[in-house]
Amino acid sequence: MNTVVIRNGKWLGFNTDVNGFLHPLRNLNKKISRCVVLGSGGASRAVLYGLMKRLVPQRVVLCARNRPAAQRLQGELRPVNREVEFIVDTLAAAEKYLPETDLLVNTTPIGMFPRNDEKPLKSLSTVKPDSIIYDLIYNPIQTLLLKEAEQCGRPTIRFNGFEMLIRQAAAAFQLWTGKDLPVDICSAALRRALAA
Ligand SMILES: NC(=O)c1ccc[n+]([C@@H]2O[C@H](COP(=O)([O-])OP(=O)(O)OC[C@H]3O[C@@H](n4cnc5c(N)ncnc54)[C@H](OP(=O)(O)O)[C@@H]3O)[C@@H](O)[C@H]2O)c1
Repeated sequence: MNTVVIRNGKWLGFNTDVNGFLHPLRNLNKKISRCVVLGSGGASRAVLYGLMKRLVPQRVVLCARNRPAAQRLQGELRPVNREVEFIVDTLAAAEKYLPETDLLVNTTPIGMFPRNDEKPLKSLSTVKPDSIIYDLIYNPIQTLLLKEAEQCGRPTIRFNGFEMLIRQAAAAFQLWTGKDLPVDICSAALRRALAA
């Protein structure tokens, strides 16, 4: 939950990260069958829910250093769609899934400012051509993971966390005020702030 609204004296909780995460993927004319999600924290939970509920891939692999947390997420989210195979593995094991992964999502803060020179995986050299590499980090705009995806010698589709950040904020703003967020104005202001 990242947004709370009081309606008729009742507290209602929402997670706008789910729609924020899905927004950049909405117009992709591409079947996402196999996904790898790195990290087992709050953002991972929203990403996994969105995948299980809306994209419905054949398989999701949750790779994390925190195995108990990953197993809790597995137990909690499996009932969302039991047709999706849900595997838990270590972060170090993630690379072995890359040759058959359509969507790789980094939900860890590895590579986030000020530790821009870090990355969650050693290498993307085995990544499947035309796979989607999605890093939730928005500062820097292009993480080392995304740079490597650009330079790995295979075509990839890349997303950073900027649009997700704006879209989850727009959804929260709508819940709080009933109004549309001026997305273009907010995006420009955020770009200026991140560049400063
Ligand atoms: N674009 C957006 O709108 C948006 C929205 C939400 C979050 N995010 C970004 O997503 C990232 C995670 O946010 P969160 O709220 O999910 O944080 P969180 O709840 O603290 O979860 C972070 C996850 O990453 C793991 N992790 C952290 N450092 C690690 C390391 N050095 N090696 C391996 N695993 C590590 C943590 O493992 P442990 O449990 O072992 O600590 C945990 O599973 C942040 O960069 C945040 O800015 C972006």
